[in-house]
Amino acid sequence: MRFTDKICLVTGGGSGIGRAACQQLAAEGGTVVVIDRDEATAQETLRLIEKAGGRGLAVRADLGVVPDVQTAVDAVLATYGRVDVLVNNAAMMTFKPIVELTVAEWDLVMAVNLRAVFLLSQLCLPHMRGGAIVNISSVHGQQTTANVIPYAASKGALEAFTRGMSQEYPASQVRTNCVAPGAVDTPMLWNNPNVKSGQEKIEGEVGHPEDIAGAICYLASTDAHYINGTTLVVDGGRLSVL
Ligand code: NAI
Repeated sequence: MRFTDKICLVTGGGSGIGRAACQQLAAEGGTVVVIDRDEATAQETLRLIEKAGGRGLAVRADLGVVPDVQTAVDAVLATYGRVDVLVNNAAMMTFKPIVELTVAEWDLVMAVNLRAVFLLSQLCLPHMRGGAIVNISSVHGQQTTANVIPYAASKGALEAFTRGMSQEYPASQVRTNCVAPGAVDTPMLWNNPNVKSGQEKIEGEVGHPEDIAGAICYLASTDAHYINGTTLVVDGGRLSVL
């Protein structure tokens, strides 16, 4: 049980990859804090964890809102007093060409996908001892399509952020890594208008949330004790055509 006695925070834990990560961390002994802006889905993830014999806490927070991020971390620290694993998984997309994007849309994507990662890291780091941060990037950080520039830019920046973290924190203190999924069978994939229209072609195998959760748990565990500042692509080989 790799996460026995570990306090594990997962953002976007109410759906898809985040929910699978919550379930796997809990199945391996972790106490899981499910953070999501959708309280009902966060509670449902917690219910699934508890039904399987695990434990945790559901916290509603909109990560695009700075006080919500602070409140979520305060709630975790008030309950558990520390953080061992932080999985920054929640993200959003826009589907517009660059000339049609508003500043508000740009700012919101950056706030949810990037600023929240900075804030959560900054707030959790003083309470982490030998723990791990896993940031969920995307193949879009390296190879993208039209009409999703803020998302692709946020994911590329997230990978650079992760490399920077590894320079400020040695592996012995806190390890920070990314997982970059390819196409994964979640609501985010199938609600993507570029995918619906066929503009973004889903070639090859579509992954399952559990495939990504396995990679997240590996990087979050001491099995990966010598891995810091890198990005693990989990895409069934999609990026290898580059
Ligand atoms: P999903 O749409 O199934 O789940 C995302 C969760 O994040 C939802 O529960 C949603 O309520 C929550 N969320 C969104 N905005 C939030 C906010 N402002 N505050 C708090 N919670 C918020 O998405 P999925 O597919 O599980 O995505 C998870 C991560 O995986 C994201 O970082 C995404 O960019 C990444 N990813 C997904 C891929 C896919 O094909 N599904 C491919 C590559 C990366």
